[in-house]
Amino acid sequence: MTLTRNSPCKINLLLNILGRRADGYHDLETVLHPVNLADQLQFTALERDIELTCNRTDLPTDATNLVYRAAAAFFATTRLGRGVRIHIEKRVPLAAGLGGGSSNAAHTLLGLNDLFDQPLAVDRLFELAAALGSDVPFFLQAKPAIGTGRGEQIEPLGWFPALRGCFVLLVHPGFGVATSWAYQQLSRFPEALNGQPGRARRLVSKLDSSSLAASAAEFYNSLEAPVLRKFPLLGMFQDFLRTQGAPVVLMSGSGSTTFALLPDAASANRLRDQFKVKFGESHWTAVVPLSAECPV
Ligand code: C5P
Repeated sequence: MTLTRNSPCKINLLLNILGRRADGYHDLETVLHPVNLADQLQFTALERDIELTCNRTDLPTDATNLVYRAAAAFFATTRLGRGVRIHIEKRVPLAAGLGGGSSNAAHTLLGLNDLFDQPLAVDRLFELAAALGSDVPFFLQAKPAIGTGRGEQIEPLGWFPALRGCFVLLVHPGFGVATSWAYQQLSRFPEALNGQPGRARRLVSKLDSSSLAASAAEFYNSLEAPVLRKFPLLGMFQDFLRTQGAPVVLMSGSGSTTFALLPDAASANRLRDQFKVKFGESHWTAVVPLSAECPV
């Protein structure tokens, strides 16, 4: 039996780091928003073993792959004595701050649970997801959410009125940023490392009660401090997109993707064209409706 699932990505509307923890992770508050740009996962039940293939040859398909680890965790927990072949069709760029790998892991747990008649309850799926990575639990659900702890504690929210009808322009420079490197660098940026809590709720309250333009000052990402210092091109992208009138421009997660929020499809497509005239055709770009309520 074969089953196919979409595995959508995310952007962080806010990522406020609150300090380093004894276990090496960082406490944070984040506002995560689903983006309707998805990889595709195909699952075929096998009698035994986990077999993984991917259209991207630069993504390892061995036991280090997060999808492989998610499948291994599923079979270890359920003790079904079965196996699976999984094909990953990648559309979301790698190491991009868009949560592609985390989403693939979450949707592997959901896909296998469907394929084998729901052996795991929702609570158990959330536990397995948190053990796989800080961003993985968010992708078990499909709404905007606040993440706390190391990002794994998810509070689902409603769709934000200020973002209704909005489109996001995503720009990826062609190189990735390693998440662990970005976090390690924070020790050199004490202000970014030790943010004050409360910013996530402030942004959510603005997005719930006012316009995109009125919310713009509340968008924030602590990891921009180290990443924009190391990769000045990303700062140039941001400056240009702002100069062209985008009300919100921010790096997503630990980068390297920059996103701009626009009030409608026409202005997002126009901004993409202007970006290409300025920076050339070699950078990956996408224009995507932000809310699930928008037609794809
Ligand atoms: O949780 P995940 O495995 O996705 O995290 C990748 C790396 O990012 C961690 O090894 C850690 O270096 C860093 N990280 C962190 N604090 C967080 C989330 C991630 O330091 N809250």
